[in-house]
Amino acid sequence: MEVVVAEHAGFCFGVTKAVETVYEQINSKKTNIYTFGPIIHNQIVVGDLESKGVKVIENVSDLEGVNEGIVVIRSHGVTKESYSALKETGLEIIDATCPFVKRIHKIVDEESAKGKSIIVVGSKTHPEVEGIVSYATGPVYVVESPEMARSFREDKAKDYTVVSQTTFNKNKFQETIEILNNYGYNINIVNTICNATDERQSEAQEIAGRADVMIVIGDAHSSNSRKLYEICAAKCDRTYFIQTLDDLELEIPDGAKLVGITAGASTPKNIIEEVQKHVRTNF
Ligand code: F3S
Repeated sequence: MEVVVAEHAGFCFGVTKAVETVYEQINSKKTNIYTFGPIIHNQIVVGDLESKGVKVIENVSDLEGVNEGIVVIRSHGVTKESYSALKETGLEIIDATCPFVKRIHKIVDEESAKGKSIIVVGSKTHPEVEGIVSYATGPVYVVESPEMARSFREDKAKDYTVVSQTTFNKNKFQETIEILNNYGYNINIVNTICNATDERQSEAQEIAGRADVMIVIGDAHSSNSRKLYEICAAKCDRTYFIQTLDDLELEIPDGAKLVGITAGASTPKNIIEEVQKHVRTNF
């Protein structure tokens, strides 16, 4: 039986940078270290950072009374308001927002300034989307799915610029765009799904299409991992979604020829290695 691990599994460039930034601060520790929200959606990594003294704050008000420290902004960014409030605290701010997310902030800011209404395709409550929305200075709408696009009823005389959450499912983004187009909205589309996501999803889809069993490793809170699971499950009936090897209750059907493994952007390499080794040695 063959075991294939996706090349584009695990930490993406933005997550690597953000996590490394926090570890660098720990190593040169001179002061208190805070991250604005969990640095990534992975309980194991966040737990390790906490054990090394890093505190997670959820709001700028959590820093009240703190006179000394460094705050690292996570890879999917924060709202414009939170960013300004953080600056006002006088603490040192290290912005580890991924450049691909920053690019969306810039697009939304510029397009709003031109008078365009903004449509963000993504999950409304995801911090990345909350951040993107905050950069609009005019009307802004969040469309979470093709189903939601079908019931989107706004002024068709207006011009819209559409962007997407970096980790959105690219097939669903295309479907959403087509629906808005067919309804006659005047839309300028900027596909801001990041390359790392695109490559990861395409590769996962390809492997799942020929695998008898597929394993997706990721945190249940990680939106990109959940989307990866959806994509794989649509192609392979036996798709498992696990956070670590401990969750894996693997059953391999007789005659299975291929087991595929992929992982979300917030899954550390050692967990992927562990799962891969387990499958290779036990089946
Ligand atoms: Fe950045 Fe893409 Fe990762 S936007 S944080 S490189 S998934």
